[in-house]
Amino acid sequence: MYNAKITATGYHVPEKVITNADLEQIFDTSDEWIRARTGIRERHHVAKGEATSDLAAAAACKLLKQRGIAATEIDCIIVATVTPDMLFPSTACVLQEKLGASNAWGFDLSGACAGFIFAVATGSQFVHSGAYRKVLVVGADVMSSIISLKDRNTYVLFGDAAGAVLLEPTAPGEEGIMDFLLQTDGSGGQYLCMPAGGSLRPATHETVEKKLHFVHQDGRAVFKYAVQKMADISVEILKRNRVSVSDLALYAPHQANMRIIDAALERMGLDPAKCVRNIDRYANTTAATIPVGLAEAYEAGRVGKGDLVLMASVGAGFTLGSLLFRWSF
Ligand SMILES: CC(C)(COP(=O)(O)OP(=O)(O)OC[C@H]1O[C@@H](n2cnc3c(N)ncnc32)[C@H](O)[C@@H]1OP(=O)(O)O)[C@@H](O)C(=O)NCCC(=O)NCCS
Repeated sequence: MYNAKITATGYHVPEKVITNADLEQIFDTSDEWIRARTGIRERHHVAKGEATSDLAAAAACKLLKQRGIAATEIDCIIVATVTPDMLFPSTACVLQEKLGASNAWGFDLSGACAGFIFAVATGSQFVHSGAYRKVLVVGADVMSSIISLKDRNTYVLFGDAAGAVLLEPTAPGEEGIMDFLLQTDGSGGQYLCMPAGGSLRPATHETVEKKLHFVHQDGRAVFKYAVQKMADISVEILKRNRVSVSDLALYAPHQANMRIIDAALERMGLDPAKCVRNIDRYANTTAATIPVGLAEAYEAGRVGKGDLVLMASVGAGFTLGSLLFRWSF
């Protein structure tokens, strides 16, 4: 039996930048309100015709280049997303074709903002069992495709991006992925969802008119839950692994709201300098926030071989996950 380790990262954000000032021109909001309540200054949106698989493919190409391998060497592709190119075929199938990863099988995983952690935990099991040696895990979302310009409460919060990691077996004695803590609390489904477009409410003129194909959320309820649970799942995984918070080199929390991240840091007693923060530039990119943050941290030299890293996220569902690992490259 092998353990799994992350051996490469990659990320991509689309070119178009939407600043808070741009949004001030569209609806009644202000840069000051958005920054104070969320920490967001700007977000990136795709161009017309650009889809989740395009962002995923760009992120994966950077990863392959970093690792120095060909797409044909990938065994399995898992795409965490709530904004697939279409309901089916899966974005993993589209991505496989775009990359030319002809030897890989793959599937999409719907875990909202905790989707990337769910996908890394899932992918790691294929490596752990010895079934596959190179699993590409992507977190990618085009949130701009499911937010309404008529809803300032949600429109300001989200952006588009993709991030990817490669999972491979550890060498003997190497630690890699050490532990993960995954939870679902289905009682929270009503607070953050896209009500139509599935089998319950297929698309009709009425669902379109009622804007049921966009994100609907009770921001306060989600905030209240997330602010408590982000701290809980971060503290719990450290505790059960007997890891002191000072041993962490990097904390990569989901980027939903700066105040949620600050609350988690305070509860953990973690030095804020060790925390990944890109919500100011990208907003909440759902499944992409954590892999984008990891890739940027590596690029900036903030993390390296042997460093202990914790990721954590709370998202729609509710879905919750934290994952502790040792950086291995
Ligand atoms: C959405 C969120 C930023 C709102 O912040 P808040 O401090 O809770 O603000 P409230 O919801 O109490 O709203 C305060 C006021 O600001 C207004 N407001 C909401 N969005 C606004 C915007 N973009 N610009 C200006 N005012 C806005 C509200 O209408 C409300 O006005 P009212 O008091 O006249 O009714 C916050 O609840 C949040 O971050 N929730 C979690 C969302 C999230 O992370 N979702 C994804 C999880 S993965």
